[in-house]
Amino acid sequence: MSENLAIAAYLGATILFILSLGGLSNPETARRGNLFGMIGMGIAVLATVLGPRVDLVHGLPLIVGALAVGGGIGVYAARTVQMTQMPELVALMHSLVGLAACLVGFASYVDTSTVLEGAEKSIHLVEIYVGILIGAMTFSGSVIAFGKLSGKIGGKPLLLPARHWLNLFALLAVSWFGVQFVGAGSIDAGMTPLLIMTAIALLFGIHMVMAIGGADMPVVVSMLNSYSGWAAAATGFMLANDLLIVTGALVGSSGAILSYIMCRAMNRNFISVIAGGFGGGAPAAAGAATPGEPQGEAVAVSASETAELLRSAKQVIIVPGYGMAVAQAQHTVFEITKWLRAQGVNVRFGIHPVAGRMPGHMNVLLAEAKVPYDIVLEMDEINDDFPSTDVAMVIGANDIVNPAAEDDPTSPIAGMPVLQVWKAKTSIVMKRSMASGYAGVDNPLFYRDNNRMLFGDAKKMLDEVLVALKS
Ligand code: TAP
Repeated sequence: MSENLAIAAYLGATILFILSLGGLSNPETARRGNLFGMIGMGIAVLATVLGPRVDLVHGLPLIVGALAVGGGIGVYAARTVQMTQMPELVALMHSLVGLAACLVGFASYVDTSTVLEGAEKSIHLVEIYVGILIGAMTFSGSVIAFGKLSGKIGGKPLLLPARHWLNLFALLAVSWFGVQFVGAGSIDAGMTPLLIMTAIALLFGIHMVMAIGGADMPVVVSMLNSYSGWAAAATGFMLANDLLIVTGALVGSSGAILSYIMCRAMNRNFISVIAGGFGGGAPAAAGAATPGEPQGEAVAVSASETAELLRSAKQVIIVPGYGMAVAQAQHTVFEITKWLRAQGVNVRFGIHPVAGRMPGHMNVLLAEAKVPYDIVLEMDEINDDFPSTDVAMVIGANDIVNPAAEDDPTSPIAGMPVLQVWKAKTSIVMKRSMASGYAGVDNPLFYRDNNRMLFGDAKKMLDEVLVALKS
């Protein structure tokens, strides 16, 4: 393939990636967006493999081998991973982008096939240094995020004494070693500062994510998404590959925008989240009274009592959370919704921006169950409607409906906007036990006078509710 044809293919792929991002911003166009992304990536891979910079005669076995192994792992992961494990998989993929940036950085550094001089050489060395720096941080940070999201590492933030000083020291050290690296006379001499910086960046990535509390993990996930984009862009600079630079910048900036949106949704300051320590105050003992919160009894109801409450309601808001994803209850939820709507009940869904374990988690599940988009509303659109609602039905959600976020300034989730289900005439919380949610915080909602608990697996209980409704 000629250079010009490869450039034209890269341009086409870039346009498809932009269209893909545009499509993914809306559930109705998301499928098309995905398709654009897949076609764009197919063109990008073909144009690179068949392009003028790849020696197909010698490289073909390697390329075919890499495509078979990478593609095989991708297909296997996509087929076997559970929807609830998606955030962990995404974190793992971010770590691979970071690792690739590091490896490409070291390979470009020891590659002597092109000799650069003067400013060009210095710029190339800075590209390598920054690329490895971002790549190493992304790699180790994403591995820790994977551990936290999969529950292999506890959600409580690790707060080292003088951690801000440690971070500052790391920044100064990285800058100093950067100067040594660029000024080094030989590859051997430059390797020592490069390796030391890599070690610091790896430790920094671990420290950065370990210092973030459970409730703030959504911000970290989107932030690492952004970092992986910048790591890819840095790789693009090292390899002088325009498409990688553009694609990396697209991922990096969209991840940064998502992090900002997440922070705003959770009423968090971005810099404070990154500096760490948020979302990790000592959780109240289960059942303990929260300031300003009269302690009461959690009242359990049966599936048939739940069906009775729903049957006599005119206005119902359903609030899904992580438990709905675990139980895969979305299809039964929609069956119940259809039945109630057929009886003239106004049923709507209230979606919290960080419900579940990844951005848009609930929207994806509800779309999969074919719930119409016009009854799925964002938190800001529906929160004022709870006082005029008869039944608010919470399905496997916890942190996102916790009134302590509003009432208890000492709570680790204080200030995070929540869905005010307790303002409905009756709220019903469907979960298996009194256990706390992801943030590890007790939920005073369970003890409110107008709240009822429907204990059990969400899918099983909803099946029983549906049977009771129809009988
Ligand atoms: P959580 O606060 O984690 O609560 C989910 C509840 O579902 C749990 O208390 C659990 O209680 C219940 N549950 C689990 N399996 C169930 C099943 N099979 N049937 C019925 N209930 C089940 O979830 P949420 O309210 O959706 O809030 C999300 C939390 O995750 C927030 O703290 C958020 O910051 C964090 N987070 C979000 C993201 C993104 S981007 N969305 C990413 C990382 C972290 P039982 O064990 O008693 O059943």
